[in-house]
Amino acid sequence: MDYFEEEKAVDIKGLTTILGGQTILNNLSFGIPKNKITTILGFSGAGKSTLLKHILGLLKPTYGSVFVLGKNLNDLSEFELKKFRRHFGMLFQYAALFDSLSAYENVAFPLNEFTDLSEDEVEEKVYGLLESVGIKVDSFFKLPSELSGGMRKRVGLARALALGPDIMLYDEPTTGLDPITTKMVNDLILNTYRKNVDRGMTSIIISHDVKVTLEISDFVAFLDHGKIVEFLPVKDFVNSQNKLVQEFLAL
Ligand SMILES: Nc1ncnc2c1ncn2[C@@H]1O[C@H](COP(=O)(O)OP(=O)(O)OP(=O)(O)O)[C@@H](O)[C@H]1O
Ligand SMILES: [Mg+2]
Repeated sequence: MDYFEEEKAVDIKGLTTILGGQTILNNLSFGIPKNKITTILGFSGAGKSTLLKHILGLLKPTYGSVFVLGKNLNDLSEFELKKFRRHFGMLFQYAALFDSLSAYENVAFPLNEFTDLSEDEVEEKVYGLLESVGIKVDSFFKLPSELSGGMRKRVGLARALALGPDIMLYDEPTTGLDPITTKMVNDLILNTYRKNVDRGMTSIIISHDVKVTLEISDFVAFLDHGKIVEFLPVKDFVNSQNKLVQEFLAL
């Protein structure tokens, strides 16, 4: 499905993934528009996480190619891939913070690891990042265990944004959250998008939470049995004639 005029952040061409003799992704072709929010929906086992691993270059295609920001990942060595992953920010389902590090230290970590910023510059950056996701100064030096689930998500997001990613990946950002925290995470994704849209950041959400998705996405793709069976602007997605999509929407 290739009819979008938009420039693509990710372009997948004929991607087939065979693992343990099983075809997980099946000749999948699909472009993710740059500077927009695209959600990939699908039932459990459809291949969403597998697709995400390909976008990050953590899995090699059995056949086909994945282009990210114009680069064919097949052409990159392990070392180059590692460097290339700096283009990505990732927010995992459980935020995946370092337990023994404070909120501040979690966000400072990628800056200390990957940049030459001075201590003062790191401090300024971390303060800005934490404030931008709505964490108050009195919580900066708390450990993850002292923060609520929603606050941990905020810190995880601040850390993911620290290096100014070109592509933000959200893996099941609202799964397992109560409705209020879900709304908060949703607003956070949208605000993050708005704050970074001018520098061209693309957001990709993997989810099976359809209601949440429809509220914030520009485009929605539906993955089933290793293929993208529908890919539409969000306003058209709700009217999809695809039977599986209708089934999914009715859940
Ligand atoms: N390393 C592997 N070897 C063999 N099969 C695998 C491997 N990894 C994933 N699979 C299979 O591939 C299919 C897709 O898995 P994947 O994790 O991508 O689905 P998903 O859409 O992310 O599901 P969920 O919503 O449950 O997270 C599943 O049937 C899974 O069992
Ligand atoms: Mg998954």
